[in-house]
Amino acid sequence: MKATAAVVAAHAEEITSCFYPRMFAAHPELLRVFNQGNQATGEQSRALAASVVAYAVQLIDPDAPPFHHVMQRIAFKHVSLGIRPEQYTIVGHHLLAAVGEVLGDAVTPEIANAWNEVYWLFATQLIAEEARLFQQAGVDPARPLRPYLVVRRIEETDDVVSLVLEPADGAELPEIAPGQYVSVFVDLPDGSRQPRQYTVSSTALGTRLQITVRRVKGTNGAPDGQVSSFLHDQVIVGSILEVSAPAGDFVVQSSDAPLLLATAGAGITTVLPIVELIARTQPQRKVIVAHADRTAQDHALRDTVLHVGRLIDDFTAYTWYETVDETDHRSKQGLMDLSEVPLPDDLQVFTCGPLPFMRHLRSTLLARGVPASQIRYEVFGPDLWADHAPSEPETV
Ligand SMILES: Cc1cc2nc3c(=O)[nH]c(=O)nc-3n(C[C@H](O)[C@H](O)[C@H](O)COP(=O)(O)OP(=O)(O)OC[C@H]3O[C@@H](n4cnc5c(N)ncnc54)[C@H](O)[C@@H]3O)c2cc1C
Ligand code: HEM
Repeated sequence: MKATAAVVAAHAEEITSCFYPRMFAAHPELLRVFNQGNQATGEQSRALAASVVAYAVQLIDPDAPPFHHVMQRIAFKHVSLGIRPEQYTIVGHHLLAAVGEVLGDAVTPEIANAWNEVYWLFATQLIAEEARLFQQAGVDPARPLRPYLVVRRIEETDDVVSLVLEPADGAELPEIAPGQYVSVFVDLPDGSRQPRQYTVSSTALGTRLQITVRRVKGTNGAPDGQVSSFLHDQVIVGSILEVSAPAGDFVVQSSDAPLLLATAGAGITTVLPIVELIARTQPQRKVIVAHADRTAQDHALRDTVLHVGRLIDDFTAYTWYETVDETDHRSKQGLMDLSEVPLPDDLQVFTCGPLPFMRHLRSTLLARGVPASQIRYEVFGPDLWADHAPSEPETV
């Protein structure tokens, strides 16, 4: 494996982009579990490739970055999608066949065996972690989804709608750690079925959960987002959605450390549940929220966040808009710039937004002396952070 890690890494994306069409041809039912938007953009191929290479590297290099957070993120995502242990055989078969197809004669039986072993080491760790997460959530892996009734639609902005959901099976709402997401599966008009993840944008409702969805519009000839458009245009009060148990580890630990919640665009959905949590359980904890958006009219949940923020003793809000209204004297023009914002010691940062936004934010914070280990991030898509920052994927 040591001898071939570099060549596999160099061809990793080629391998995964050969792998998916092979697997879908043999198992078309999996088209209903994999996000076809991420297939079209190639993001899932890159995330899978990056994770397998990172796993192999940490097996052979004792100085490799810790891998635990990558494993956790994948396991949570898999659990929210109801991935089953037996499906690992299918993925393993096609992934290793794709390695053979791309690398050709270079793959001797010895090399093939070594990579087979790497795959199954990774797979068995994921299977074990996923079994643990299913059990912890009290979810039967054979029935990972529950029906929820849409009881309310709140048009937050022209492009953002909140859907308030109530379990429709008579059972209680699951426990939700603020910052977690659910996978929502929808049956689309063309007969296909697709899942997407949405952060639970409020957990203050007791018996109900809320998701807040930004409509994704296609740019440069790309199609509009399939599921966000469906949720905006077709889902009404009385509709039933199939929803997974809450998943994800973008959650705040209870400590006294001051919090900075720095978001852009749809990333705002992670802010409200965290602000609600602090208001409910630690109102004396310092919270700074910083948000960037196109305009104030696009800034969803703004008033609700400010309203709940009043319950926190030391709460400060900053906003940056690409275009600021003439009457708005508080918001700043342009992209988020934290250089002027006073930052307390021992700050814990939670950031969510497009990758370029988070990368820029991270460098500003590192330059201001915030340790990388204090910066947590959530990506609203396959995690490609490591793809662009190979030497430091563990740090955020
Ligand atoms: C953990 C997590 C939490 C999330 N939380 C939220 C949230 O709270 N709120 C929220 O609004 N979103 C959230 N998201 C994002 C959400 O899951 C969806 O990705 C988003 O709604 C877009 O889905 P879609 O089906 O509308 O778009 P898709 O159909 O998946 O399209 C996505 C993009 O791919 C492009 N594309 C699609 N097909 C092609 C093609 N053939 N060629 C070129 N480009 C193409 C589209 O133009 C679009 O830009 C979250 C994601 C994750 C992973
Ligand atoms: C060792 C084996 C596997 C590895 C290394 C792996 C790796 C990954 C990675 C890195 C992601 C992206 C996580 C993120 O950042 O969001 C992911 C998502 C996913 N995985 Fe796996 N996976 C494995 C096995 C499987 C299996 C067996 C299935 C079931 C068929 C599966 C189905 C999925 C699906 C549906 C997604 C979400 C895709 C998307 O949103 O585009 N995976 N996996």
